[in-house]
Amino acid sequence: MSIAEQTSLPETASNVNADCVAFVNDGQTHNVVAGVLGDMFTTPLVLDGGTKESLQYLMEVMTPPRIMIVDLGESNAPLAAMLSLTTAFTDETKLIGIGTVNDVGLYRELIGAGVSDYLVKPVTEKALTAAITRAQQAAQPIQEAHQADTQETKRIAVIGSRGGVGASTVAVSLAWIFGEERKKKTVLLDLDLEFGTVALALDLEPTRGLREALETPARIDSLFISSAMAKVSDHLSVLATEETLRLETNFDPSAIDVLFEALSRGNECVVIDLPRPAFAVRERVLQQATDVILVTELTLAGLRDSIRILSSVDEAAPNVPVTVIANRSGGSHEAVKKAEFQKALGRKVDFLMPEDSKAFTKAANSGKPLVVSAKTSKAVKLIRQVADKLGAEEEPKAQAKTKAKAKAPGAAKKTLSFSLFKKKPK
Ligand SMILES: Nc1ncnc2c1ncn2[C@@H]1O[C@H](COP(=O)(O)OP(=O)(O)O)[C@@H](O)[C@H]1O
Ligand SMILES: [Mg+2]
Repeated sequence: MSIAEQTSLPETASNVNADCVAFVNDGQTHNVVAGVLGDMFTTPLVLDGGTKESLQYLMEVMTPPRIMIVDLGESNAPLAAMLSLTTAFTDETKLIGIGTVNDVGLYRELIGAGVSDYLVKPVTEKALTAAITRAQQAAQPIQEAHQADTQETKRIAVIGSRGGVGASTVAVSLAWIFGEERKKKTVLLDLDLEFGTVALALDLEPTRGLREALETPARIDSLFISSAMAKVSDHLSVLATEETLRLETNFDPSAIDVLFEALSRGNECVVIDLPRPAFAVRERVLQQATDVILVTELTLAGLRDSIRILSSVDEAAPNVPVTVIANRSGGSHEAVKKAEFQKALGRKVDFLMPEDSKAFTKAANSGKPLVVSAKTSKAVKLIRQVADKLGAEEEPKAQAKTKAKAKAPGAAKKTLSFSLFKKKPK
């Protein structure tokens, strides 16, 4: 098959009934695009030019192509350039932009405006092929497709009131139960880029891609994600990293949205181990979560921090159901009685997870996750109950009530001071 390669918009160009048309304006991109289109289409057309030439082509052509690739060149306003195109094309033509601006905000705006994809130069064959495949698969407008997919995916954010309360244990166990035991396609995402323990708990080599994905979100696509993930099995994958502490991880929190969109495609469940310190990231994750799990210990410090976290959850995501797990109950970590704790917290503790040193020591020594090495332990049975609750179609009535109660303004604060003065830690 031959590809029409021209230097200016030829008179005959609009007579060719091309299934994919590309306007590019530099030699390197031209070569990559011509190579990929030659492999993927029967009548591709690769021409020199950009937005202006694309519009001109569109006015002259009888049948618009199914896919149009437009090089935005050095344009500082790629959004405006692309908008002029999206308004000119019908929904049947999928638009892929190519540009030099690498910015997650721009990427989101372009997708929001109906652009199918946006690739940053230098464009690789792999990225272009993936973008075209996605555009071809999008029978419905891509935005709607994302929303439909994302709505079906459970995104469970697990956060600890303090360090060491067992949040990572709960996150890893839940992901294992959903993926390995219940065979739902699950991703376990460790957002603690510096001190994450998820890869360690599952005895996996941490991969490098997560950091890169968050720092250059315009590159996030299914291919990129799958290469950055460590696969435990067909049902469970892990996205974690182990950063060198001296390297500062710097990313725009909106990268989280892009990552979640990508992870939600093709997965039924995403479990997020969410660190407490990164405020902006935490807020983003909470806004995207379908469920939040707060793990705490029954101590005064645990109480104070639980109140703080619950109020930040309430601010960021007032409608998301929250499950509270009090861990290590019955052990030396229990300094406040459950009833007192609940009163001060202004809501119910949904689950009590017992102190179980034997099971945890066994897990640590075997190098296997708790859910595997201590399958029948009380702690694991408890986490299975949590999984049952999360898997339920509807939010149980009891929880809806507690949530309403928790929202009574000032309730938590008042009872905290009451509790702090009345009850001294043991
Ligand atoms: N119920 C429990 N009984 C005994 N040890 C526990 C229990 N829950 C957690 N641990 C131990 O506490 C430590 C911290 O757990 P981890 O899940 O890493 O907490 P976090 O992620 O909140 O910092 C681990 O060594 C874990 O084995
Ligand atoms: Mg942890």
